Amino acid sequence: MKGNVIVGQSGGPTAVINSSLAGVYRTAKDRGAKKVYGMLHGIQGFLDEQYVDLSDYIKTDLDVELLKRTPSAFLGSCRYKLPEIHEDREVYEKIFGILDKLDIECFIYIGGNDSMDTIKKLSDYAIVTGKTTKFIGVPKTIDNDLALTDHTPGFGSAAKYIGTATKEVIRDAMGLVYNTDIVTIIEVMGRNAGWLTGATALSKGEDCDGPDLIYLPELAFDIDNFIERVKELLQKKKSVVVAVSEGIKTKEGKYVCEYGNASDYVDAFGHRQLAGTASFLSNLVAAEIGCKTRAVEFSTLQRSASHLASRIDVNEAFQVGGAAVKAAVEGDTGKMIVLKRVSDDPYQCTTDICDVHKISNVEKLVPRDWISRDGTYLTQKFISYIEPLIQGELLPVQVDGIPRHLFLQK
Ligand code: F6P
Repeated sequence: MKGNVIVGQSGGPTAVINSSLAGVYRTAKDRGAKKVYGMLHGIQGFLDEQYVDLSDYIKTDLDVELLKRTPSAFLGSCRYKLPEIHEDREVYEKIFGILDKLDIECFIYIGGNDSMDTIKKLSDYAIVTGKTTKFIGVPKTIDNDLALTDHTPGFGSAAKYIGTATKEVIRDAMGLVYNTDIVTIIEVMGRNAGWLTGATALSKGEDCDGPDLIYLPELAFDIDNFIERVKELLQKKKSVVVAVSEGIKTKEGKYVCEYGNASDYVDAFGHRQLAGTASFLSNLVAAEIGCKTRAVEFSTLQRSASHLASRIDVNEAFQVGGAAVKAAVEGDTGKMIVLKRVSDDPYQCTTDICDVHKISNVEKLVPRDWISRDGTYLTQKFISYIEPLIQGELLPVQVDGIPRHLFLQK
């Protein structure tokens, strides 16, 4: 390639987003990029001319390996919405001014559906103004809610953590129920999509019942019915474990967390911070039923658990990063790399490329027939889809018993 590459990370962190960064870096170098720049804190930092030359940080093969196994966003992330082009052309002139100065041939952005909005707007602007820089998106989100891709890098590792941690929570509660009833409510991320909450069902097997009830945001949540179901279960067993999505809503459209002490914070894309659902429901169960309760919020632990990363996920994240550079060099723009499942058994997946206009700002939800008829569990179709994505391990490099990460010295 003739010019340089710039790459940014955007949206919520994952355990494998840096593996995609490593894939971009490695392929760009292999294809002859003189410089591979990294934006600090995505497009928001870029607008303040915050970027680094990645070669200053990735010097050896060991650094690439460390980067692949380092969770969260090595370059820093952002939740920043670009204005519509007609609203503020100056922002675009500024961005393209910096891109020209750095001689950028390929602009790669690793993120979820909000981040693909950035690729869409920048590629549209480039086409309208005759700029030659190519803009390609790399899929990333633990939420697994991106359209047109079989799944998103980051989801498999989060699902593996959630399945494992759910099993441990269930086991923990069972140890303490000799003379006491205990109801544990587990809260899982995922906003409006229930892929991650459904992953709690992975804990079910010969040695574990799995959660007793699983509530996804795809279906309206009935608070009274929930209390009745818990009461019924307590007639039969002493430990009841319920998994709920942070985004469950009542049929009136109100988030359950809003009935408790929810935060009012709303980000640039209009997303309310969702937390406190489990805490609200466990207090409600304590008040209505009078037993011991516990709220477990997996919170950011599920997002950056690289100690439980899925090997498949780490490798696919690396692969989509490389595929993005290849696509840009071959002349594609305004596209996102997608994963295409070729077969389940043996699991095989390849990459393809899709128009980002069909992806940005669209949410892919769990299909209704992958949820049980009464809406409180997942069907075998869901399990068969998710199981291949959590296979294998790629442990962190350990130093003195604790994972070693690659980090930016500021
Ligand atoms: O977008 C990924 C995600 O992890 C969602 O599941 C969650 O609702 C959101 O990020 C939380 O974001 P933040 O940490 O910015 O509050």
